[in-house]
Amino acid sequence: MPETIAVVADIHGNRWALEVVLDDIRERRITTVLNLGDSLYGPLDPMGTYSLIREHGFFSISGNEDRLLAEYGRSRGKHKTIDYVLTQINPDVLSWLEGLPFDHVSNNLIYCCHGTPEHDTEYLIEDVRSGYPLLKDSASLSSHLNSIFPPVVCCGHSHLHHVVQTDQCLIINPGSVGCPAYDDDMPVYHRMETGTPRASYAVLTLDHFEVKASHISLEYDAEGAAQTAEKNGHDNWAFWLRTGRVSP
Ligand SMILES: [Fe+2]
Repeated sequence: MPETIAVVADIHGNRWALEVVLDDIRERRITTVLNLGDSLYGPLDPMGTYSLIREHGFFSISGNEDRLLAEYGRSRGKHKTIDYVLTQINPDVLSWLEGLPFDHVSNNLIYCCHGTPEHDTEYLIEDVRSGYPLLKDSASLSSHLNSIFPPVVCCGHSHLHHVVQTDQCLIINPGSVGCPAYDDDMPVYHRMETGTPRASYAVLTLDHFEVKASHISLEYDAEGAAQTAEKNGHDNWAFWLRTGRVSP
Protein backbone atom coordinates (compact mmCIF):
# COMPACT_ATOMS: atom_id res chain seq x y z
CA MET A 1 0.00 0.00 0.00
CA PRO A 2 1.62 3.32 -1.02
CA GLU A 3 2.21 5.80 1.78
CA THR A 4 1.27 9.43 1.21
CA ILE A 5 2.98 12.30 3.00
CA ALA A 6 2.37 16.05 2.88
CA VAL A 7 5.40 18.35 2.92
CA VAL A 8 4.91 21.97 3.95
CA ALA A 9 7.43 24.78 4.42
CA ASP A 10 7.69 28.50 5.12
CA ILE A 11 4.26 28.93 6.66
CA HIS A 12 5.45 32.25 8.15
CA GLY A 13 2.57 32.65 10.58
CA ASN A 14 -0.01 32.65 7.81
CA ARG A 15 -2.85 30.86 9.60
CA TRP A 16 -5.31 31.71 6.79
CA ALA A 17 -3.22 29.84 4.20
CA LEU A 18 -2.47 26.96 6.58
CA GLU A 19 -6.19 26.38 7.24
CA VAL A 20 -6.84 25.84 3.53
CA VAL A 21 -3.78 23.60 3.17
CA LEU A 22 -5.00 21.52 6.12
CA ASP A 23 -8.46 21.19 4.55
CA ASP A 24 -6.80 19.86 1.40
CA ILE A 25 -4.56 17.47 3.36
CA ARG A 26 -7.63 16.17 5.22
CA GLU A 27 -9.56 15.60 1.98
CA ARG A 28 -6.64 13.50 0.70
CA ARG A 29 -6.72 11.49 3.97
CA ILE A 30 -3.06 12.26 4.61
CA THR A 31 -2.04 11.89 8.25
CA THR A 32 1.73 12.53 8.08
CA VAL A 33 2.90 16.12 7.60
CA LEU A 34 6.57 17.10 7.42
CA ASN A 35 7.15 20.79 8.13
CA LEU A 36 10.45 22.22 6.86
CA GLY A 37 10.51 25.32 9.06
CA ASP A 38 10.08 29.07 9.14
CA SER A 39 6.74 28.36 10.74
CA LEU A 40 5.88 31.46 12.77
CA TYR A 41 7.98 34.45 11.63
CA GLY A 42 5.95 37.27 10.06
CA PRO A 43 3.44 40.04 10.91
CA LEU A 44 0.46 37.67 10.80
CA ASP A 45 -0.92 35.11 13.28
CA PRO A 46 1.97 33.15 14.85
CA MET A 47 -0.08 31.85 17.78
CA GLY A 48 -2.97 30.62 15.59
CA THR A 49 -0.43 28.99 13.27
CA TYR A 50 1.36 27.29 16.16
CA SER A 51 -1.93 25.90 17.47
CA LEU A 52 -2.76 24.34 14.09
CA ILE A 53 0.75 22.86 13.73
CA ARG A 54 0.56 21.20 17.14
CA GLU A 55 -3.10 20.16 16.84
CA HIS A 56 -2.36 18.31 13.60
CA GLY A 57 0.86 16.68 14.82
CA PHE A 58 3.23 18.04 12.19
CA PHE A 59 6.80 16.80 12.40
CA SER A 60 8.68 20.13 12.32
CA ILE A 61 12.29 21.12 11.85
CA SER A 62 13.80 24.56 12.42
CA GLY A 63 14.13 27.26 9.78
CA ASN A 64 16.49 30.22 9.97
CA GLU A 65 13.70 32.48 11.23
CA ASP A 66 12.62 29.93 13.86
CA ARG A 67 16.25 29.89 15.04
CA LEU A 68 16.37 33.70 15.18
CA LEU A 69 13.13 33.86 17.17
CA ALA A 70 14.59 31.37 19.65
CA GLU A 71 17.89 33.28 19.83
CA TYR A 72 16.20 36.67 20.33
CA GLY A 73 13.43 35.23 22.46
CA ARG A 74 14.83 36.43 25.74
CA SER A 75 15.94 39.90 24.50
CA ARG A 76 13.52 42.15 22.67
CA GLY A 77 14.03 45.42 20.78
CA LYS A 78 16.18 43.81 18.09
CA HIS A 79 13.96 43.63 15.05
CA LYS A 80 10.44 44.88 14.24
CA THR A 81 9.03 41.59 12.93
CA ILE A 82 10.73 39.42 15.54
CA ASP A 83 9.45 41.74 18.29
CA TYR A 84 5.91 41.43 16.90
CA VAL A 85 6.05 37.63 16.92
CA LEU A 86 7.51 37.56 20.42
CA THR A 87 4.64 39.70 21.72
CA GLN A 88 2.16 37.19 20.26
CA ILE A 89 3.60 33.89 21.48
CA ASN A 90 3.83 32.44 24.98
CA PRO A 91 6.82 30.76 26.71
CA ASP A 92 5.66 27.29 25.65
CA VAL A 93 5.95 28.32 21.99
CA LEU A 94 9.42 29.73 22.57
CA SER A 95 10.47 26.43 24.17
CA TRP A 96 9.06 24.58 21.16
CA LEU A 97 11.08 26.80 18.80
CA GLU A 98 14.23 26.26 20.86
CA GLY A 99 13.79 22.48 20.66
CA LEU A 100 13.24 22.14 16.90
CA PRO A 101 15.88 19.95 15.19
CA PHE A 102 18.06 21.29 12.37
CA ASP A 103 17.27 18.34 10.09
CA HIS A 104 15.50 14.99 10.07
CA VAL A 105 15.43 11.67 8.20
CA SER A 106 11.99 10.15 7.64
CA ASN A 107 11.49 6.43 6.84
CA ASN A 108 15.21 6.13 5.88
CA LEU A 109 13.98 7.59 2.61
CA ILE A 110 13.53 11.35 2.99
CA TYR A 111 16.15 13.79 4.29
CA CYS A 112 14.59 17.09 5.44
CA CYS A 113 16.39 20.40 5.97
CA HIS A 114 15.30 24.04 5.73
CA GLY A 115 18.12 25.44 3.57
CA THR A 116 21.03 23.10 2.86
CA PRO A 117 22.44 20.29 5.01
CA GLU A 118 25.14 22.76 6.05
CA HIS A 119 23.18 25.93 6.86
CA ASP A 120 19.60 27.12 7.25
CA THR A 121 20.25 30.40 5.37
CA GLU A 122 21.68 28.82 2.20
CA TYR A 123 19.56 27.98 -0.81
CA LEU A 124 20.00 24.37 -1.92
CA ILE A 125 18.50 24.62 -5.41
CA GLU A 126 18.83 28.26 -6.43
CA ASP A 127 21.86 30.44 -7.16
CA VAL A 128 20.84 34.05 -6.42
CA ARG A 129 24.11 35.85 -7.13
CA SER A 130 22.58 37.53 -10.18
CA GLY A 131 19.76 38.97 -8.05
CA TYR A 132 17.30 36.41 -9.36
CA PRO A 133 17.02 32.67 -8.64
CA LEU A 134 18.77 30.46 -11.19
CA LEU A 135 18.86 26.66 -11.03
CA LYS A 136 22.27 25.48 -9.80
CA ASP A 137 24.18 23.12 -12.05
CA SER A 138 24.35 19.45 -11.22
CA ALA A 139 27.84 19.59 -9.66
CA SER A 140 26.83 22.44 -7.33
CA LEU A 141 23.72 20.58 -6.24
CA SER A 142 25.67 17.39 -5.61
CA SER A 143 28.35 19.22 -3.61
CA HIS A 144 25.76 19.96 -0.91
CA LEU A 145 24.56 16.39 -0.71
CA ASN A 146 27.70 14.22 -0.57
CA SER A 147 27.03 13.13 3.00
CA ILE A 148 23.28 12.60 2.58
CA PHE A 149 22.23 8.98 2.04
CA PRO A 150 18.41 9.08 1.54
CA PRO A 151 17.30 9.17 -2.11
CA VAL A 152 14.81 11.99 -1.50
CA VAL A 153 15.80 15.41 -0.14
CA CYS A 154 13.16 17.97 0.93
CA CYS A 155 14.16 21.58 1.50
CA GLY A 156 12.44 24.95 1.83
CA HIS A 157 13.70 28.49 2.43
CA SER A 158 13.46 29.89 -1.13
CA HIS A 159 9.64 29.76 -1.15
CA LEU A 160 9.86 28.47 -4.74
CA HIS A 161 8.41 25.10 -5.71
CA HIS A 162 10.88 22.74 -7.44
CA VAL A 163 11.32 19.06 -8.22
CA VAL A 164 14.91 18.50 -9.34
CA GLN A 165 16.57 15.19 -10.20
CA THR A 166 20.33 14.77 -9.64
CA ASP A 167 22.52 11.69 -10.14
CA GLN A 168 22.15 10.99 -6.42
CA CYS A 169 18.64 11.96 -5.42
CA LEU A 170 15.36 13.69 -6.04
CA ILE A 171 15.25 17.17 -4.48
CA ILE A 172 11.83 18.63 -3.64
CA ASN A 173 11.01 22.13 -2.45
CA PRO A 174 7.25 22.32 -1.71
CA GLY A 175 7.17 26.12 -2.03
CA SER A 176 5.76 28.33 0.69
CA VAL A 177 2.43 27.89 2.43
CA GLY A 178 2.22 31.47 3.63
CA CYS A 179 4.62 33.88 1.93
CA PRO A 180 4.60 33.80 -1.89
CA ALA A 181 7.24 36.51 -2.46
CA TYR A 182 9.96 38.42 -0.66
CA ASP A 183 13.25 40.21 -1.20
CA ASP A 184 16.42 39.89 0.84
CA ASP A 185 19.86 41.49 1.02
CA MET A 186 21.83 38.32 1.76
CA PRO A 187 24.08 37.09 0.18
CA VAL A 188 23.27 39.85 -2.39
CA TYR A 189 20.00 41.69 -3.02
CA HIS A 190 17.59 39.24 -4.66
CA ARG A 191 13.88 38.74 -5.22
CA MET A 192 11.86 35.58 -4.85
CA GLU A 193 8.50 35.77 -6.61
CA THR A 194 5.99 33.03 -7.34
CA GLY A 195 3.66 35.39 -9.23
CA THR A 196 0.54 34.25 -7.37
CA PRO A 197 -0.87 34.76 -3.88
CA ARG A 198 -1.71 31.04 -3.67
CA ALA A 199 -0.58 28.73 -0.87
CA SER A 200 1.85 26.03 -1.99
CA TYR A 201 2.76 22.59 -0.65
CA ALA A 202 3.72 19.12 -1.90
CA VAL A 203 2.32 15.61 -1.66
CA LEU A 204 4.74 12.66 -1.83
CA THR A 205 3.54 9.15 -2.61
CA LEU A 206 6.00 6.45 -1.53
CA ASP A 207 5.58 3.03 -3.14
CA HIS A 208 8.53 0.84 -2.15
CA PHE A 209 11.41 2.82 -3.67
CA GLU A 210 9.36 4.79 -6.17
CA VAL A 211 8.56 8.35 -5.11
CA LYS A 212 5.97 10.52 -6.82
CA ALA A 213 5.88 14.24 -6.04
CA SER A 214 2.88 16.49 -6.70
CA HIS A 215 2.79 20.25 -6.32
CA ILE A 216 -0.42 21.60 -4.79
CA SER A 217 -1.37 25.27 -5.26
CA LEU A 218 -4.43 26.60 -3.42
CA GLU A 219 -6.43 29.81 -3.28
CA TYR A 220 -7.17 31.14 0.19
CA ASP A 221 -8.14 34.40 1.92
CA ALA A 222 -4.90 36.20 1.04
CA GLU A 223 -6.68 39.53 1.47
CA GLY A 224 -7.38 38.73 5.14
CA ALA A 225 -3.70 37.95 5.69
CA ALA A 226 -2.62 41.08 3.76
CA GLN A 227 -4.87 43.34 5.83
CA THR A 228 -3.39 41.88 9.01
CA ALA A 229 0.12 42.60 7.70
CA GLU A 230 -0.91 46.21 6.99
CA LYS A 231 -2.48 46.59 10.41
CA ASN A 232 0.80 45.41 11.91
CA GLY A 233 2.84 47.96 9.92
CA HIS A 234 4.22 45.68 7.20
CA ASP A 235 3.04 47.10 3.85
CA ASN A 236 5.75 45.13 2.02
CA TRP A 237 4.32 41.85 3.33
CA ALA A 238 0.81 42.98 2.31
CA PHE A 239 1.99 43.47 -1.29
CA TRP A 240 3.75 40.09 -1.33
CA LEU A 241 0.64 38.36 0.03
CA ARG A 242 -1.75 40.01 -2.45
CA THR A 243 0.35 39.50 -5.57
CA GLY A 244 3.11 36.93 -5.10
CA ARG A 245 5.45 39.68 -6.28
CA VAL A 246 7.86 42.16 -4.75
CA SER A 247 6.79 45.80 -5.08
CA PRO A 248 8.69 47.44 -7.97
FE1 LIG B 1 13.82 30.49 5.48
